Amino acid sequence: MVFPPTMWPTCPGCLRTKDPPMNKLSPAIDLAFTNARTFNKFDGRAISETLLQQVYDTMKWAPTSMNCQPARLVFLRSAEAKARLKPALSPGNLDKTMAAPVVVIVAMDTRFYEHLPTQFAAYDARPMFEANAALAEATAFRNSSLQGAYFMIAARLHGLDCGAMSGFDAAKVNAEFFADGRCKANFLINLGHGDAAGNHPRGPRLPFADVTQVL
Ligand SMILES: Cc1cc2nc3c(=O)[nH]c(=O)nc-3n(C[C@H](O)[C@H](O)[C@H](O)COP(=O)(O)O)c2cc1C
Repeated sequence: MVFPPTMWPTCPGCLRTKDPPMNKLSPAIDLAFTNARTFNKFDGRAISETLLQQVYDTMKWAPTSMNCQPARLVFLRSAEAKARLKPALSPGNLDKTMAAPVVVIVAMDTRFYEHLPTQFAAYDARPMFEANAALAEATAFRNSSLQGAYFMIAARLHGLDCGAMSGFDAAKVNAEFFADGRCKANFLINLGHGDAAGNHPRGPRLPFADVTQVL
């Protein structure tokens, strides 16, 4: 349904406030994107398992191809769990990750397609992936990356802050946390209530005109 501008302040789920000429954006957009930062430091507040579940129960509704949902999330909360990750971290990511309340390993299930018979009712897509390892790998990587991004946006909307990281040794993470070889690490996210004192100056963003074509 399309809501006319006069209804923007009241339409359910609408992200715009009144005053279209100023294109004023809602708090949700500020929270998820415009004002959201990548955090390197967090305050001392712990993150409950209930909150982690609430974030998952939000992000799980975001789309993946054939509803394949390949992401697997490992939440490292205890000092013991984070110590297992430590040898895999690049030097620049070490201290801030050890200090984060939660570290999320965003991984992908290489045999995600085993769930398709229950998750994707349109037809039996499982044989297509079983017969094509390259397609399965590309699908797992693409969609688990998307789901990692969905996770960060959901976390922000639930009042948390994130710091994503690809600076780590994936082979070491896989050996330590996914020894049977079924799951593979994609990237890491430090999670908590951010302390802006640790933020880097914000980088610019490429403008619309430079990175888009409207054909
Ligand atoms: C997938 C991904 C991997 C990243 N890897 C690292 C990393 O290994 N170490 C690090 O300090 N920052 C890392 N970053 C943080 C980015 O540099 C940061 O998100 C970007 O500069 C935007 O900063 P802003 O969100 O504060 O505007 C990563 C971000 C993403 C999304």
